[in-house]
Amino acid sequence: MSTDHDRLAPVTWPPAPIKTERLVLRESAPEDRATFIDLFTSPEVGTYIGGPHQRDEMERTAPEVPGRRFGCFVVDLDGAMIGMISFDRRTPASSGLFLPEGGEAELGYLFLPRSWGHGYAAEACAAALDWFHGSHPGEPVVLTTQTANQASMHLAAKLGFTEVDRFEEFGAEQWFGVRAG
Ligand SMILES: CC(C)(COP(=O)(O)OP(=O)(O)OC[C@H]1O[C@@H](n2cnc3c(N)ncnc32)[C@H](O)[C@@H]1OP(=O)(O)O)[C@@H](O)C(=O)NCCC(=O)NCCS
Repeated sequence: MSTDHDRLAPVTWPPAPIKTERLVLRESAPEDRATFIDLFTSPEVGTYIGGPHQRDEMERTAPEVPGRRFGCFVVDLDGAMIGMISFDRRTPASSGLFLPEGGEAELGYLFLPRSWGHGYAAEACAAALDWFHGSHPGEPVVLTTQTANQASMHLAAKLGFTEVDRFEEFGAEQWFGVRAG
């Protein structure tokens, strides 16, 4: 069990698995390792996030249970992982600014290409945001995505994120949005 140490009110992790209409959001387990590797080595998934990782290197270096950390949900469809959602605290080195003191929670989402286009990402992210806002009352969530990543831009808007800023980073235009707490 871990807690969100960056904030004053400690939040217990992991929560009980979160069930949506079609999905379950849960903590990572050892049997998810192969899917984490598929996710991070997929050229399609890597298109707007710096490219895919090398499979042989990931096979060697990935932890026994990847993604077992505060704020990282495995998204499970019928007993198998199809994607992941994360809330990570931004650091002083992060681009974009929303709260003057920084340290905002940033939403991330990655899904296997074969699961795209069924509304799973929207369904899972909405449930994850409900968990976040319930456990961190009043806190905003931020999100950065390349403007060229149309699927992600569309998803961000559907989830209720609104634009705060745009900036250049990693050789591409980035969209920085916020969803109020
Ligand atoms: C971003 C991602 C999670 C979206 O997954 P998805 O399965 O397409 O999402 P959903 O099916 O829930 O669709 C959500 C909305 O986006 C729309 N959408 C999906 N792909 C789209 C595209 N290429 N262009 C425009 N809209 C798109 C859907 O139509 C849906 O909107 P609607 O309900 O109004 O029709 C997925 O493409 C992915 O994992 N990409 C790789 C990782 C990545 O780039 N993550 C973002 C890092 S910032």
